Amino acid sequence: MRKPTIVIIGAGAAGLSAALAVAATGSDVTLVTKADLVESNTYHAQGGIAAAIFSDDDPKLHAADTMAAGHGLCDPKAVDILTREGAERVREFAALGVHFDRDAQGHMLRGLEAAHCRARVVHAGGDATGRVLELDVSAMVRSNPRIHVIEHAFLTDLIVRDGRVCGVRLLIANDPGQTDSGQAGSPRAVRRELTADRVILATGGAGRMYPYTTNPAVATADGLAAAWRVGAQVADLEFTQFHPTAMAVGEHFLVSEAVRGEGAVLLDEHGRRYMTDVDERAELAPRDVVARENFRVMQAQGGRPVMLDTSPMRREHPDLAAFLATRFPTIDAYTRSLGFDWSREPIPVAPAAHYLMGGIRTDLDGRTSLPGLYAAGECARTGVMGSNRLASNSLLEGLVYGRRAGIAAAGDADDMIWHPEPLLNSVTGTAYTNPPVVLATPTNGGSSDGDAAVDGAAVVDAAVVDTAVADHATGARLTADKPWDRARIQNTMWHGVGVLRDADGLSHAAEALAEGLASANAHAATMEATGDVTALENRNMLTVGYVAATAALARTESRGAHARTDHPRPRDEWAHSVAYVAR
Ligand code: SIN
Repeated sequence: MRKPTIVIIGAGAAGLSAALAVAATGSDVTLVTKADLVESNTYHAQGGIAAAIFSDDDPKLHAADTMAAGHGLCDPKAVDILTREGAERVREFAALGVHFDRDAQGHMLRGLEAAHCRARVVHAGGDATGRVLELDVSAMVRSNPRIHVIEHAFLTDLIVRDGRVCGVRLLIANDPGQTDSGQAGSPRAVRRELTADRVILATGGAGRMYPYTTNPAVATADGLAAAWRVGAQVADLEFTQFHPTAMAVGEHFLVSEAVRGEGAVLLDEHGRRYMTDVDERAELAPRDVVARENFRVMQAQGGRPVMLDTSPMRREHPDLAAFLATRFPTIDAYTRSLGFDWSREPIPVAPAAHYLMGGIRTDLDGRTSLPGLYAAGECARTGVMGSNRLASNSLLEGLVYGRRAGIAAAGDADDMIWHPEPLLNSVTGTAYTNPPVVLATPTNGGSSDGDAAVDGAAVVDAAVVDTAVADHATGARLTADKPWDRARIQNTMWHGVGVLRDADGLSHAAEALAEGLASANAHAATMEATGDVTALENRNMLTVGYVAATAALARTESRGAHARTDHPRPRDEWAHSVAYVAR
């Protein structure tokens, strides 16, 4: 039987795992990434990977914590797989040589993070778990002869023919040094189409929709928006996780939850500890609870940041400076580079967009509602995260579900179709909606290109773009006739679809984003023809922001990361996910 041609977009934990899984089946695979191979959300992850691998733990306990944090929207089957197979994957990658931190006897070290009933978060490089994982696993990918890597290639769209995804359109940079974040898009960008029997999206999140985010520049919702444009179902986009503690100065650098796990506390500007009044778990309450409280305290003190105080750690670590430098070398170096000595003084922190719980709807093997299209990692909605992701479950999801998507894509029969099941209400057990809610797409500029000619060869140069692109950092070239720039998207999202929401703010944001999206869609062909990646990224974020705002407006309750001041409590009739699809 002919082996399927497979293209994977994205090279974080999910994309790398998918590539290794496909290669292990004996199939060749092309791995496409927007920047350097290692640049991804994974690379910037700090705290670690949660895994029930220690003798006092059990995947069932990890599953119970995950379900509790997800507030009724987790799929128990998906969570069971995550926690059982997650423990296997972590053991497997440790055996393959990923450099997890170990004690003098060689046992893996572990930390505690919020809402975990056990210390089960394994880490690497102290607080550089993602970097170590990404470097170690990408080295395995690089040395695998079945995996062909294409770097600095931006996904412009998916190609669909006869109802099947059958390839991708890319902009490949010849000179990546000319762009702001090293991704594709330059005056000498090349447009290419890759045909494929199966496409796996592992493109990560959408944090750059917000002005304050822990995410790197590449996190612009590209795969999710491309899947939406060709009609894949999405779900749970109203749930963006805001991390409670990003540095409030500089570039909103993440200050890992593991710091609170080691004993740091939060103080208001008068030095008062407030989390003890809010939740019995105090600073180790689930992430949504702590982020919201930080936000409220900041509002009450005129927007000024809250403070993270490491001094309680001194009880266990009398030489606090030495402990912080060893346990958290990345954060230590960053805070010192800003002039703070966090062993002696509290540091200013604030909530920042961190993780998108929702995404492209998949089954337990990464199949989406569109034949030929698979998704894994942050861009996917498998049902493991519910309305609020448990700390350090994201790399785990990438390892587990990336592998499952790779195996399914390599092994599925050509006529394999996943018919999405009804989404169940976790309180009543009844189905809420199937088929999904159909949402009008503001003026489509011919983006999906379903009939585009696709060459039979695996990689084909389609055209060389020779039009100069003026300014990738601002998208200035298009501002004359397309007023929506990055800052406007981000401000609209932060103020309308932020930590605390209400109907007025959400409907204003949804309307404004729809207007911006209509304009962006009308200009999509020009953006692509001129290799204007910044403008295409803006369009992707407008797309996902618009769906997220619409879904958040419809959800008239508060649940997990979705907090509405006009509907402050969860409602049983909303204890279900809702799937959306473009008209
Ligand atoms: C952190 O280190 O606080 C982030 C880990 C995560 O997002 O799970």
